[in-house]
Amino acid sequence: MNPPKEKLLQHLLELAGENNEFLPAPNKIGFTSPDLNFDLDSEPCRMPDTLAISITKIIQMFDQAESSNRQLTQELLSSYEQLNTAFSAITNVAHCKTIRQVLASLTFEISRALNSRYDIYVGPFEGEFSLPPGQVDPGKNLVFCPSGGTDIDNTRNFYLQYESQLQILIQNTSDRQVKLIGYAPDCNSDYEGKGNVLSLRLISREENDTHHGTLLFIRSEQQSPYDAAEMNLGASLAQMGSAVMDNIISAQKLQDASIQTITSLVKATEAKDAYTSGHSARVSELACRLGRRQGLDNDQIKMLQWAGMLHDIGKIGIKDSVLSKPGKLTAEEFDHLKTHPQKSYQVLQPVRALQNVLPAVKHHHEHFDGSGYPDGLKGEKIPLAARILQIADVWDALTSNRSYRTAMSPEKARQIMHAEAGTTMDPDLVKSFLDMMKQETH
Ligand SMILES: [Fe+2]
Ligand SMILES: [Fe+2]
Repeated sequence: MNPPKEKLLQHLLELAGENNEFLPAPNKIGFTSPDLNFDLDSEPCRMPDTLAISITKIIQMFDQAESSNRQLTQELLSSYEQLNTAFSAITNVAHCKTIRQVLASLTFEISRALNSRYDIYVGPFEGEFSLPPGQVDPGKNLVFCPSGGTDIDNTRNFYLQYESQLQILIQNTSDRQVKLIGYAPDCNSDYEGKGNVLSLRLISREENDTHHGTLLFIRSEQQSPYDAAEMNLGASLAQMGSAVMDNIISAQKLQDASIQTITSLVKATEAKDAYTSGHSARVSELACRLGRRQGLDNDQIKMLQWAGMLHDIGKIGIKDSVLSKPGKLTAEEFDHLKTHPQKSYQVLQPVRALQNVLPAVKHHHEHFDGSGYPDGLKGEKIPLAARILQIADVWDALTSNRSYRTAMSPEKARQIMHAEAGTTMDPDLVKSFLDMMKQETH
């Protein structure tokens, strides 16, 4: 019994006791405290009926207030839990850097918050998922278990079993952000705010007609259907996830624009020397191929692609007389030419989107034996991307015309690279590169 109720009853009983009008009755109707119970029908109760009825009503009011308090506390607790879940989910999603990471993290968080059995992504970014066969169905823009769940076979079987209904659901979600349907026998389609399948459309706020796809969350027949509160939680998280995706896409557009500007700058640099025209694009392509052969992931390959394009951008600060000199450079001229990696680094350093290409760009003229520049780094102290870039750079320089000599044959270039393996270049990478070039000519 709560303290105010107890206090009030004590007071009333004391009053009744003083007037000798009331004796506590046996415990028959079960109020919380046995000492304070009384029964209106019982004989020993000599309290006037009106007083007894008033006390009973007061007690009932207290009980009702207590029960609605409990209900309110329960609702507050559950709202707090939902807010907490939403907060930690969106914090994780907001830290994602790529669309693929957002989709995987968002699906994982919603799936966990809503205790879902299967999850499926349908939409334009299915290509972002480099997943094993069976987990992606490229023909239908489908990804099974984007949350990283392992129940792939069951998810696929579920989809195939209900394919036509699910496809209709996905299409019908286009005019609403969120939709629920049921597939279990006791849970009919569009069942009053409850269903086993929750469909959340990831709407872009950028343009009216664009969207980032649809997420399906499914519970098994043994689980209870999703209710309206869960549907709202899922919809809020999907909305926040879509906003993060919008931001990534906007940042990507900005990044592309700055990279385009820099690419034009590269072309302008190469135009200073007719012999180096197209050099950066070829180095970029060769470096990416060698990188893939070495097992680098997509992000690293993308980094190599830009490092290849931009490695000589610092030549914009090298005198034309040195760049296109037909004969041998003097020691002084060579020292001037040797400043170009550092100059490339300085040009690119302020561009936030290009931070990851800086090590490769700065160190593409280091030598494996430590005799290179600008820092004289040795062996594996030279970043792997720089060692890869160097090999692509040397190959292209050897096999294309230069102001000081004509292009070498691939065979001659191969011999030179063999000879340089272990001194100027990483021997393992030279071997891998020459094997790659050999396979292509056969
Ligand atoms: Fe260079
Ligand atoms: Fe180069």
